[in-house]
Amino acid sequence: MHERSSDDVREEHVRAVAGRLRAARAVTVLTGAGVSAASGVPTFRGRDGLWRRRRVEELATPAAFARDPRTVWEWYAERRAAVARCVPNAAHEVLSRWSRELPGFLLVTQNVDGLHERAGTADVVRFHGSLWEVGCWAGCAGVPRRWRDERVAFDDLPPRCPSCGAPLRPGVVWFGEAIPTEALERLEQALACELFLVVGTSAVVYPAAGLLDAAAARGAFTVEVNPFATDASGRVDLALRGPAEDVLARVDAVLRGAPG
Ligand code: OAD
Repeated sequence: MHERSSDDVREEHVRAVAGRLRAARAVTVLTGAGVSAASGVPTFRGRDGLWRRRRVEELATPAAFARDPRTVWEWYAERRAAVARCVPNAAHEVLSRWSRELPGFLLVTQNVDGLHERAGTADVVRFHGSLWEVGCWAGCAGVPRRWRDERVAFDDLPPRCPSCGAPLRPGVVWFGEAIPTEALERLEQALACELFLVVGTSAVVYPAAGLLDAAAARGAFTVEVNPFATDASGRVDLALRGPAEDVLARVDAVLRGAPG
């Protein structure tokens, strides 16, 4: 999916985004699977995307888990093992630096792979949970609602709750489930920005996809970074048509160099 380069992205647009990043008092970036594409993590809806090979309803819904927790876990265990072999790419690195250096910067991600965190990003708002967390499917009182679990190999699937023995569930948000409260509590901050960048997402899964319009309605300048046109392309002020690892690195180079 990331065979395109940012050669078609005009330098004046790269400079315009760098200028806005420098001037904005608050910046929010919403990321999707495309930021991890260059790390080798498959996207959901791309040519080799996860949802091209498997039906969402078979794996990423509470009903699927209730029906067959083992099969659902086999898929998540495979994803854990695959992601554990991947490393953050230039897009993660640049966003991490901005999170530590730009005042008022907030990263909201739909990704569950943990690569933003591994790149050292300060304060990641995880809209769809994490591949590296689990919870008790029965919701028993003997354990926290969610906790970190970084195993990539399991003796038995599904893994069991240490307190009540019910299956553990992956700590990701499935279709039909609510966005985690900790993420929703950050919405006000995320929308109160002067610049909103939407990077590497097909912008079709709500409510995340709606953040763009909500930020625009409150006056934010909106920018998309994606090698392909998406549902969001016609709604942003500026679309940079190139891979995130390339476009963000170019913007960062301008930001760190002499003002354009
Ligand atoms: P998608 O797979 O729907 O979209 C990935 C986007 O990344 C596409 O628009 C690609 O064009 C773009 N892309 C590919 N390579 C890229 C690159 N190198 N740089 C930048 N962009 C690139 O993934 P998401 O939009 O993240 O939800 O999907 C949203 C949600 O749907 C996911 O969080 C997941 C999924 O079902 C849940 O699991 C709840």
